[in-house]
This record gives sequence, C-alpha cells and structure tokens, in this order.
Amino acid sequence: MTPFPTERPRRLRSTWALRAAFAETRLHPANLIAPLFLKAGIDAPVPIASMPGVVQHTRDSARKEARALAGLGVSGVLLFGVPARKDPLGTEAHSPTGVIQQAIRAIKDEVSDEMAVIADLCLCEYTDHGHCGLLAGDEVDNDSTIEVYGQIACSQAQAGADVVAPSGMMDGQVKAIRAALDDSGFEHTPILSYAVKYASSFYGPFRDAAEGAPRFGDRRSHQQDPANYREALREAQLDIGEGADALMVKPALGYLDIVRAVKDHFNYPVATYSVSGEYSMIKAAAANGWLDERAAVLEALTSMRRAGADLIVTYSTRSAAEWLS
Ligand code: PBG
Repeated sequence: MTPFPTERPRRLRSTWALRAAFAETRLHPANLIAPLFLKAGIDAPVPIASMPGVVQHTRDSARKEARALAGLGVSGVLLFGVPARKDPLGTEAHSPTGVIQQAIRAIKDEVSDEMAVIADLCLCEYTDHGHCGLLAGDEVDNDSTIEVYGQIACSQAQAGADVVAPSGMMDGQVKAIRAALDDSGFEHTPILSYAVKYASSFYGPFRDAAEGAPRFGDRRSHQQDPANYREALREAQLDIGEGADALMVKPALGYLDIVRAVKDHFNYPVATYSVSGEYSMIKAAAANGWLDERAAVLEALTSMRRAGADLIVTYSTRSAAEWLS
C-alpha cells in the first residue's frame, strides 16, 4: 500500500485534548490589563454608549472592579482620569488631589501588590482644547509639553503608581519623564512607553469615554501614519534609548505585523493596546447576532499573543478573564 499522505497534520487536531496540548500560544488572565476610566464629581458609574459594558467609574466602583480583576488573576489596570475642571494647561493632571492621583491611592490600597496599577500619562483628558500637550498658537508645543509630562509622572508615582505609561507621542517624552522621576527619587518606577502609536480612526469611542476629543484639528502631527512600518521601529529604538522599560504598540488588530516586528527587533517586553474601536466593533456585531462575542474576543486576543504581545490592554479583560478561568 502506498503510504500517502505521509504527513497528516490533522492527527494533532483530532481531539480537544490534542489541540490543547499542541497549542503554540497560550492566553492567560495574567496577559491582560484592564483600562479603567475615573470620572470626578459623579456618584454612580456612567455607561459609555459607544462602548457597551464600559463605564466611567467613581473611585468606589473602580476600587471594586479592581478587586474583582485581581481575584481573576489579571495583571494590571490602566487608569485614565476625567477631571471635573479642564484648563488650557491641563493642571489637574498633576494635582496631588487630582482624579487620577486619588484613584491610584484608592486602588493601590485595595489591591496592594496583587496587581499593577499603571497610570496613563497624557494631557488630552485634562486640557480644555483636548490636545495632548500645551499649545503654541494652534500647534502642540513639544518641548514645553514634555516638561509637564515629567511633573505628571512624579505626581502619579507619588500617589503610588507602579508604572507610568506616556501616550502623548511627544518627541523626547520618555527621556524627560525618566529624568524627572529619577530626580524625585522614583528611579524604580518603570515606564511603559506607547512607543508606537498610530493616528487611528479606531480611537473614536474612547474619546467619548475619556472626554478628550480635540476641539479643533487632529493628532496627525504627532501620532504615526498607518502607512508606515520602518518608522515604528525607529520610534521604538528611540524610546529604548531614552529609557523605556517596556514598549506598547497601538492599536492592536490592524497592526499585528508591527507587534511582531517590535518583538523580533528588540529584547524588550511588548504590550499591545486593543483599542476602543476594536472592542466596539465586536460588541456591535455580537449585539446584532452576527458574531459570537466570546469566540471572537478570544480569537483576537490569541492572535495578539501569537504576534508576540506579552501583555494586552483590552476592554474585554473582565469577560475574557472569566471565560479563561
Ligand atoms: C490619549 C489616548 C487615546 C487612547 C488612549 N490614550 C486617544 C487618542 O490618542 O486620541 C485611545 C484608546 C482607545 O481607543 O481605546 N491619551
């Protein structure tokens, strides 16, 4: 009898147990980070219409959510603040009693060292014009902005943040933040840099949640062109040189080639941010009965792990961690 076919890849797929045993990629709650929005001056959580299941938290509800996430084995929370008062300089971003500083203290108090508390570091939620930095005319001024980022980093570290995550895409921001942290005695606070961040239309729903849409113009003067690949590697290289401890690529789904490239080129931990639009697309399709939410979410997250992401920031963290446990 002719031994054809000699190779039968189907053998290793023939039962659930075999597929599980030979899976090349694992997805675990410890790979996940949950973004949480903290809004000042509300006394009950406020749902975000464009992101079903996501809310703007009160300090108390965020604390409870953090407790539940820690219990599920999730690695961290990424905190965004929505202040009661915005001004041209975004001063609430580095106030010791700011919404994010108080949230960091409350959540740290709740979860202690069970989970990492990561503070998103940007100005767009805090400025009345909605831009990620200080303006000079209609332009975001790079060098004065990174000075303020340094102050924000120190106030977040002072409040107890385990990690700061600058997302403003200013040149030299990691260096300025590292210097400011070191000068203030926070030399052990790591920087998770949004090293590669594209000017993406998939951030749309986030801007409702964080109330940080620019009042005029857009972010294309500082966020990257989706057409570019080599530029992403340059950005990552620069951030490493400036002292980044881990690198983030954002968004995730349309940019898995970039996740893989950053992972292969540098010996650094890589995180990817599965952004609001990625979440809302699946939610909307599932609500219409067009997609199975659980299967679609777990498949998308597995793809991000396969592309090389060590950590994934996702709004599906709570459900995914429940499904996985
Ligand atoms: C800016 C910031 C944005 C997101 C995270 N940080 C929005 C932007 O750059 O306009 C988007 C995240 C998401 O869409 O889920 N600080």
